[in-house]
Amino acid sequence: MRKKIVAGNWKMNKTFDEGVQLVKEIIELYTLEVKNQVYVVLAPPFIHLYKLQPLIFGMPMLEMAGQNCSNMPNGAYTGEISASMLKSVGCDYVIIGHSERRLYFNETNDWLAKKIDIALANLMQPIYCVGETLEERNNGKLYQIIEAQLSEALFHLPEEQLRHVVIAYEPVWAIGTGLTATSAQAQEMHAFIRKIIADKYGNDLAENISILYGGSVKPDNARELFEQPDIDGGLIGGAALQARGFVDIVKAMK
Ligand code: PGA
Repeated sequence: MRKKIVAGNWKMNKTFDEGVQLVKEIIELYTLEVKNQVYVVLAPPFIHLYKLQPLIFGMPMLEMAGQNCSNMPNGAYTGEISASMLKSVGCDYVIIGHSERRLYFNETNDWLAKKIDIALANLMQPIYCVGETLEERNNGKLYQIIEAQLSEALFHLPEEQLRHVVIAYEPVWAIGTGLTATSAQAQEMHAFIRKIIADKYGNDLAENISILYGGSVKPDNARELFEQPDIDGGLIGGAALQARGFVDIVKAMK
């Protein structure tokens, strides 16, 4: 059975006090209204993780993620955060290959493959992001791009490791723009991703891997997206910064 997951990527938002407030509000609404039917993964900025983790302690379906990690285990890499550090403060997930990392920090598929390995070696589930730009979509290159993002960063993994990876399809043109892929466009790409995985690893793994959709998911479009057969949840940016809207999106996944 595929895990249903709604993850909130706060990006570079929220001071520490604002973060505490947001997590408390999410916990309150989640406990009242959702009750352990959907995994909720919160990805606040690194420096908040250590103090936010105790707030979700004892809530089995609420988990923490890093927004990124280094591709090196440790050492003289000023400003970097390692996978083992994230694990040591209670992260069970880490977002890898977000399009903002690819775009602003030049992260390539090869580079990201190393991050995937190091996350898995530290017993965290990577949430690996793939997605095409508008230009790539308009040129008809979208399938080629997604296939390369998958194969170059993930397909060196043995089957038992790939089982621990969550994939997020996030069309770059839909992130933070208010443009959402239609549910049909999203479903088509999710089915394509599952097929690529099935071709390489077989149906059993492909059917059991969670594939999330991300890109301007809001309370009013979440249900239609989440109803699609190959969409197992969402990676939420802007709408994850406010508890009411975020929990409404989680509820759309129930
Ligand atoms: P958005 O961001 O929901 O603000 O479009 C999604 C993401 O970047 O993961």
